[in-house]
Amino acid sequence: MSDKFSSTADGQVKLAQSDQLQSPDIDDASVSASRLGLLSTMGLLTKIATGRIEAIEEVFIRHGDIITISLKAGQILLLGHPAHARYILQENSQNYVKEGIFWDKVRFFLGNGLPVGQPRSFWRRQRRMIQPQLHRKDLAKLLELMIASIEDSLNSWEEYADSKCSFDINEGFADLAMDVVVKTLFGTSVTESESQEIRRAVHVALDSIFWDMSLSSLPRWLPIRSQRRTREALVSCHHVVSSIINRQSTAGRDDNTLLSMLLNVRDEDGTGMNEEQLRDEVFALLGGGYETISTGLSWAVHLLLHSPEQTQKLRREAQKVFCHGRPAPEDVPALKRSRWIFQEALRLYPPGWFLYRQAVQDDHIGDVPVQSGTIVIPVIYRMHHRADIWPRPQDFVPDRFDPTHAFACNVKNWMPFGGGERICIGSEFAMTEAALVLAMLYQRYKISPAPGYRIRPHASTTIRPKYGVAVQLRRCAGQ
Ligand code: HEM
Repeated sequence: MSDKFSSTADGQVKLAQSDQLQSPDIDDASVSASRLGLLSTMGLLTKIATGRIEAIEEVFIRHGDIITISLKAGQILLLGHPAHARYILQENSQNYVKEGIFWDKVRFFLGNGLPVGQPRSFWRRQRRMIQPQLHRKDLAKLLELMIASIEDSLNSWEEYADSKCSFDINEGFADLAMDVVVKTLFGTSVTESESQEIRRAVHVALDSIFWDMSLSSLPRWLPIRSQRRTREALVSCHHVVSSIINRQSTAGRDDNTLLSMLLNVRDEDGTGMNEEQLRDEVFALLGGGYETISTGLSWAVHLLLHSPEQTQKLRREAQKVFCHGRPAPEDVPALKRSRWIFQEALRLYPPGWFLYRQAVQDDHIGDVPVQSGTIVIPVIYRMHHRADIWPRPQDFVPDRFDPTHAFACNVKNWMPFGGGERICIGSEFAMTEAALVLAMLYQRYKISPAPGYRIRPHASTTIRPKYGVAVQLRRCAGQ
């Protein structure tokens, strides 16, 4: 244990007084930009594509907090400091928008749902209508569906328990997260094949978005993957989603699903969403609520495999909170350690590891001039690994998120859900689901690495474990 942390008798990790964190503002961040040439840029992209996500950190350490990449097609700024990210996401968000060739392409594929919604007035109206449905208070209506869906998935994993068979829990979480988002959106009437079709399309779409983001500003002669696969997958998924929506709206039931809430929601002028808007928003929620959560959970399990102390604390919490029997919606606020563990996993492996905006007008970030049209990329991964903000940045220390801890971290610098007006609309949904999954999983199973366990982060639209997370499950005593 480093001198920055000490361990108390009950195993609590404490940060030294000197590490109490101040919220850095833009003055604390370096304000001059370093330029990265085309060859270095290609080198960086190649390293990231081959799994060396830490290459992005090395570039920031070498070049400073703002990195400029000048291409024939325009300029790109990479931002590595949370103060700069807050500036473009919050303080001057009007100037940093989701416009330009890349976002046009995404809209062409995905429709005009919340993550890409334009114009701003349209996005605002949609956000106003959808946000309350995912607010903590209304989320309570979805909790029974969420818990039942998690239970079903964990039950289906029993065949692996005690069999000594290796189980890729990353795949398991992908199925689980898709099942939760599908059931909370549509209820239990969705068939297995509809669910599989949606999952395939979302996966293909998320993959292609990353490559489009990385390559849209690079020269045209570079070999860019065909987009036919994406288009075909999305057409088929649109078909499935539209037929589920039609089925539900014809049935006209109010069954406490997200879809029935969205069907009934009205703006101030009394109008709701038309069929196309509804389909785009449903697709946005499916896309947002699937791989982000499942990869976050996979990394949490990977980290717990190397931390018997945190595993024990998590299991103790789960046993205490669920001691009355079946998990219930009222249990969620008590799952504190489970939340901190997920928060720390999102810090170390933020699924949305970078964001993407385009400057509308000329501006300055610190002293660095920004021309209109510049692509601005806050790199969340770098922000979450900065030694000047996170003591022992590479270590798994969930206790930093305990707000009662004298040396709790400043959550302002934790940005896995983005920030400002376009902050993730599903953050509370995600935190609730993840806290329940981890607690219910560790209450039921002991988890150990499968023989030959190997892990490597692979950066795509999210940071995925390249070889999955191969584990063995054993039932806990009494389960
Ligand atoms: C651990 C889980 C999750 C992570 C890490 C995550 C991350 C993010 C991030 C970083 C953004 C901002 C993107 C930007 O500014 O460009 C975002 C936006 C969004 N997320 Fe999530 N998300 C998660 C879960 C969810 C869930 C569960 C849902 C839906 C049920 C969801 C739906 C959305 C939507 C609709 C937006 C667009 C919001 C807007 O622009 O108004 N996300 N998410």
